[in-house]
Amino acid sequence: MHHRKKIIVLTGAGISAESGINTFRDAGGLWEGHDVMEVASIEGWHKNPELVLDFYNQRRKQLQYVSPNPAHFAIAHLEKFFEVIVVTQNVDNLHERAGSSNVMHLHGELLKVRSSGNPNLIYDWDEDLCLGDFCDEGHQLRPHIVWFGESVPMIPQAISLVQKADIFIIVGTSLQVYPASGLIDYVKPDTPIYLVDPKANEIKSHHRVHAFAEKAGIALPEIANQLIQNHA
Ligand code: APR
Repeated sequence: MHHRKKIIVLTGAGISAESGINTFRDAGGLWEGHDVMEVASIEGWHKNPELVLDFYNQRRKQLQYVSPNPAHFAIAHLEKFFEVIVVTQNVDNLHERAGSSNVMHLHGELLKVRSSGNPNLIYDWDEDLCLGDFCDEGHQLRPHIVWFGESVPMIPQAISLVQKADIFIIVGTSLQVYPASGLIDYVKPDTPIYLVDPKANEIKSHHRVHAFAEKAGIALPEIANQLIQNHA
């Protein structure tokens, strides 16, 4: 069997927009009605843990009412022809539900929680998380989310994946949040880069991207078909 090309897909909130999940920066700085720093920073957690838990409980519940869209499915379909690794900034599970089998969550996952005293204690969680829910060592559990003010432990792994990409696809991210936004700098010089975002032309990321200023659900199925015809 011939060597399969390696596709790395970097996704952000925009890929889930057509599934009905709001992006972070499209609604005037508010995220689901909240100041992002109140609900998604380590300071916010220390200041008002109940508000933060409630916020993520709503996000977790929302997963029951949303479904993957054609963009998620197109990426999953690529696995039939390529080695595909999804590096997502999203905390939803829509890539997995569309059938992607290799998904790295840079910023954590809604369906996991972890000990606030021991970061190695991570648990699957699909219900509400409340004050008084403790880990096995007796510490309060917190959402397994990378908040502002926290490091991104997966980034070295993500960098080494991007360095090996034969094709790099970026979907639905404003590329405003470091270090995820810096991943594009590690792509090999001859690796084609596709950028799919309605605001693709405003996202000044790289001189050699193929920009698709379209919604992910429209562009991704087309790009996937092209890749399969030309590169598989
Ligand atoms: N298809 C593709 N892209 C879309 C669509 C769509 N249908 N709708 C909106 N977008 C684009 C927007 O134009 C924007 O460029 O998605 C992007 C979303 O950008 P952000 O809201 O900034 O989300 P993201 O880049 O994922 O944020 C990164 O910031 O708050 C933190 O940790 C959080 O992971 C998040 C990180």
